[in-house]
Amino acid sequence: MGTAPLGIVMNGVTGRMGYRQHLLRSILAIREQGGVLLSTGERVQVRPLLVGRRAAALQEIAERHGIEDWTTDLDAALADDRWQVYADFQVTSARVAAIRRAIAAGKDVYTEKPTAETHAEAVELAELAAAAGVRNGVVHDKLFLPGLLKLKRLLDSGFFGQVLSVRGEFGYWVFEGGWQPAQRPSWNYRAEDGGGIVVDMFPHWNYVLEDLFGRVESVYAKATTHITSRVDERGEPYAATADDAAYGIFELEGGVVAQINSSWAVRVDRGELVEFQVDGTHGSAVAGLFGCRIQPRNATPKPVWNPDVPDSRDYRAGWLEVPDNDPVENGFKVQWEQFVRHVVEDAPHPYDFASGARGVRLAEAGLESSRTGRRVSIQDSDAEVATR
Ligand SMILES: NC(=O)c1ccc[n+]([C@@H]2O[C@H](COP(=O)([O-])OP(=O)(O)OC[C@H]3O[C@@H](n4cnc5c(N)ncnc54)[C@H](O)[C@@H]3O)[C@@H](O)[C@H]2O)c1
Repeated sequence: MGTAPLGIVMNGVTGRMGYRQHLLRSILAIREQGGVLLSTGERVQVRPLLVGRRAAALQEIAERHGIEDWTTDLDAALADDRWQVYADFQVTSARVAAIRRAIAAGKDVYTEKPTAETHAEAVELAELAAAAGVRNGVVHDKLFLPGLLKLKRLLDSGFFGQVLSVRGEFGYWVFEGGWQPAQRPSWNYRAEDGGGIVVDMFPHWNYVLEDLFGRVESVYAKATTHITSRVDERGEPYAATADDAAYGIFELEGGVVAQINSSWAVRVDRGELVEFQVDGTHGSAVAGLFGCRIQPRNATPKPVWNPDVPDSRDYRAGWLEVPDNDPVENGFKVQWEQFVRHVVEDAPHPYDFASGARGVRLAEAGLESSRTGRRVSIQDSDAEVATR
């Protein structure tokens, strides 16, 4: 501990997440504010080392942001004691091999989700990290969305009474890439390159459901590829082999039923790109990325089904907006601050590789359910990590 800067190897900083969320909005913002505040009142500064495959791209980013250190040699970075943390924002398919090397080099590891493409590999990473005694963490950014923070506040205040059900709608139209460029990288639509909406989004749904409503006990899902051919970044057509929509039902401990549709082939007729409706005995809420509306039971209208008479009631008008109350920081930065405190002063960090493995387990179970047409029960992968 102390005031020496914490060296962080950042692999994949030329990518969407690595550059914008992890480098710009998190590590450089933390550097700008003078470091991470510790419980002692001291601050620990961060020092990034950019790692990637293309020297010119790394040099350009380093110069643009006044970063001293960059390299294309990951092994040399991992062998260097000046860097204590390894952070991974590469494409998912490149992650496991790099994290294995980082753990073997004794680095603490922080990573984007999913931690691996298969549950077996995700569990293996958790076991390797535990055996090596390195600290480990995985992104859980959706919990920091202002709308979900409001939802958490409603839950903590007992607003819902007994929560009965959750209905989530996530998605938007991702252009095919032909007559308009696609707005997401093409690897997301190729199963062979680690793509697919289930492996992308179910790890998020796992920690969101777990944190707010209870652990997932079973899943039934139908995953499908609605758009089977797309055009990549170079204008080349390719077969879209990965699922681009998944319709899931999740049973949670305590009896809550959650239903979440995830789709990149849907047009948005909602207030936000993701929305969760939560219905409880005492009230309901609809939370999005930013907003959250509520309807308590004593302001609930009493509709009567009558197909003969047009309904003049404005149901949407009967909801109340939850105020912002407190300023909200970028979730990726808050997560980085938590992880740095975990590394430097052993502060708690429940979103570890075991948590990441549960997310991958849910994705795998979702795909299994889709393949077999059966509901799949979820075993506790923490227990698997502990008992192997
Ligand atoms: N937390 C979130 O909300 C969220 C959102 C999107 C993506 N992600 C995750 O972040 C990761 C990166 O996604 P992205 O959208 O930034 O992708 P991206 O394609 O924009 O960036 C990928 C990065 O990996 C590098 N890369 C590409 N191919 C590689 C290879 N074969 N070997 C090594 N490196 C390679 C690229 O140079 C780039 O730096 C993925 O694992 C994805 O699941 C998380």
